[in-house]
Amino acid sequence: MSPNQPALLSITALNFSISKEKHILKDISFSVPQGSFTLLCGPNGSGKSVLLRCIKGLEQMQEGTILLEGKDVTKDRKKRMQTIGLVFQDADTQMVGQTVEKDIRFGMENLGLDLETQTQKLEQVLGLLDLSGQRSQRPRTLSGGEKRRLAIAGVLVMDPKLLILDEPFANLDYRSVVSVLSTLLRLQQEGHTIILVSHEVDKTLSHADQVLVLESGHIVASGTPHEVLPILGQHGIYLPEGAAVEDLSWLKR
Ligand SMILES: Nc1ncnc2c1ncn2[C@@H]1O[C@H](COP(=O)(O)OP(=O)(O)OP(=O)(O)O)[C@@H](O)[C@H]1O
Ligand SMILES: [Mg+2]
Repeated sequence: MSPNQPALLSITALNFSISKEKHILKDISFSVPQGSFTLLCGPNGSGKSVLLRCIKGLEQMQEGTILLEGKDVTKDRKKRMQTIGLVFQDADTQMVGQTVEKDIRFGMENLGLDLETQTQKLEQVLGLLDLSGQRSQRPRTLSGGEKRRLAIAGVLVMDPKLLILDEPFANLDYRSVVSVLSTLLRLQQEGHTIILVSHEVDKTLSHADQVLVLESGHIVASGTPHEVLPILGQHGIYLPEGAAVEDLSWLKR
């Protein structure tokens, strides 16, 4: 990614409260360059998932502006729903089909893709996320890790411009983490823009173009992995002792 890429997503002064007293997100501003990999981290309850829901348009923020490709979409939830693919933290909430195959086809049918294209994309993601053996299985009977891979598959087939994943590694074993992470990096190479929410920064930090650190609803730090690494521990984010940025990846080099 070139550092001079225009912003795909630009957020200014976003505030979200659930009552007069309870402010969850406070004055959030950041930009996500086209084609970049952004790592959003922060301790439990810092507001990461709520922020993603605000960006996607599933929560109604009280203040703030959201631009997509330079266009103000603050009031255009539909555009945000179409452009942004969000893999939820809770994979169960995302499953809609009677079988794995139907679940993955669901979004593509809504998009009106022809059957041949659907099948081609279906085969591709089943292979990519190692779900071919579960194709006819009911989603509710999948294991935790399989459910998560299905949630990722369902969003990937939609080919969203902005792909956001909320704690995608939860429940995944080593091989699945490696497979999901390398898939994300390949998608980035193909031009997708990715926001990854994870406090497991030891798996991904070295791949990020920018890191945002959220604490108690504020962005308390942002910058390159090298810039934020020294202060992550102060914000409740675990790092292996003495690790350098280059070590913080689960992919073999
Ligand atoms: N509808 C709601 N009503 C009351 N509190 C809420 C609501 N939604 C979120 N919160 C609170 O907002 C805060 C931020 O929640 P959020 O789910 O965004 O945290 P998070 O950073 O994603 O945490 P985790 O790492 O555990 O996933 C939490 O304290 C949560 O309890
Ligand atoms: Mg969360």
